Formats: sequence, structure tokens, C-alpha cells
Amino acid sequence: MKEFYIIANWKARLTLPETSDWLNTFKKYYKTTSDNLKIILAPSATNLHITSEFIKNNKLNLSVSAQDVSSYPKGAYTGEVPAELIKSLAEYAIIGHSERRRYFNETTAVLEKKLKQCRLNNLTTIYCFEKSSDALITASDIIAFEPRSAIGTGKNLDPDSLLKIKQNLSISNKPFLYGGSVNLANALDYLKIKSLINGFLISSASLNPIKFAQIIELINQHLNK
Ligand code: PGA
Repeated sequence: MKEFYIIANWKARLTLPETSDWLNTFKKYYKTTSDNLKIILAPSATNLHITSEFIKNNKLNLSVSAQDVSSYPKGAYTGEVPAELIKSLAEYAIIGHSERRRYFNETTAVLEKKLKQCRLNNLTTIYCFEKSSDALITASDIIAFEPRSAIGTGKNLDPDSLLKIKQNLSISNKPFLYGGSVNLANALDYLKIKSLINGFLISSASLNPIKFAQIIELINQHLNK
């Protein structure tokens, strides 16, 4: 069976003690899933280390993603977090999230540099986009369609509209993820259309570790039916 990704994007929301609490609670509720289900945690840069250490020390079948990387390499770039500094802490990097474009003016040229830095440092990229015409869709490893109107609003895009978006892309075998108000109540709707998606990027509904573990369990059961 093809791989299915469930990614928790905590954005700039959890402090260090909150991240530690999240991990400890999640460990109690998370039931190991089948190997084709990839669970990825995306903490802020300040919490990458504690998250990756927790996973290692507890031998959990989870991976870590950065929420962003610098467009610059390692060097004299005060305040930046280059891919080379991230690579010992994470396997994946989210690039081009809607909030990066909106609040930090990330352009195609900047995002292209970020994808290049990830490639040079063996970070698997999860590229977020809002338009089927996005020039960098083909340059990333995994892609995630995230319409702005659905992010954090409770108004998830209906699966039929998502299907239309997907049919307009020429992505062949690239994993295609959806993000935008995915939760326990609507996650399975996307799985009713065969081969529509290969995963979810979830923020709001991932902040509660018990609810996030329930979403994982629901999808795991569905995939193994
Ligand atoms: P949401 O956010 O799940 O809170 O809608 C998704 C995202 O921004 O990746």
C-alpha cells in the first residue's frame, strides 16, 4: 500500500514545557500504526531538539519536520536557521506555508532557494501551495494543497473540490496532501474518494495530543480495512 502522511504542524504555538507535555501525553495515547502510515511532528525550531530526542529515547515510530528553513546556507546570517543546522534534528521540512508567504513575503525566488538548501542537505520537502499554477510544485518531494480560506477557519475544502484541483496538476507519483481545518469529524470524507490524497497537514486539530492520536487511529483503521 502507498504511504500515507499525517503531519502535525504546531506553528509558533507551543512553548518548550507545552511541547514536553504534548509528547508525554501523546505517548500514552498513540498506538503504533502500520508502516505505510508516516506520522510527522513539525515543532517550531526551538523545539526540534526536544522532539527528536523524545522520539529517539522512546523508540517511537515518528518523524520530525522543520516548519521552514533559511534560504541561506550555514554562515554569517544572524537569526537564520539553515537546512544544514536542521538536518541532524529533522528528516523533513515544510516549505512555502501560506503564512510564510503572507507574513514574511516569501516569493517563488526565495522558496526556490529554500528547496535547493533542503536538497543539498537531504531534507525531504513538503511544499505547500495554494494555486495549481504554482511553479515549484514539480520541484518538491511531497506537495500539500492548502487553500487560505480553509486554514484555521473550520471551513475545510470539500473533497469533490479537492479532486478538481488535483486533476489539474501533473504530479504523477508525487505524494499529494491536503491541509485546512482537517479534524476527527471530516478526515474520513477525504478517504472516500479513492486515491484522492496521500495525507494531511493538520494544525489546530493536532494541538491536543489525545485528539491527534484519535485521528491517527481512525485513519490507520480505515487504511487497513
Ligand atoms: P489548520 O491549519 O489545520 O489549523 O487549518 C493547517 C495548516 O496551516 O497547515
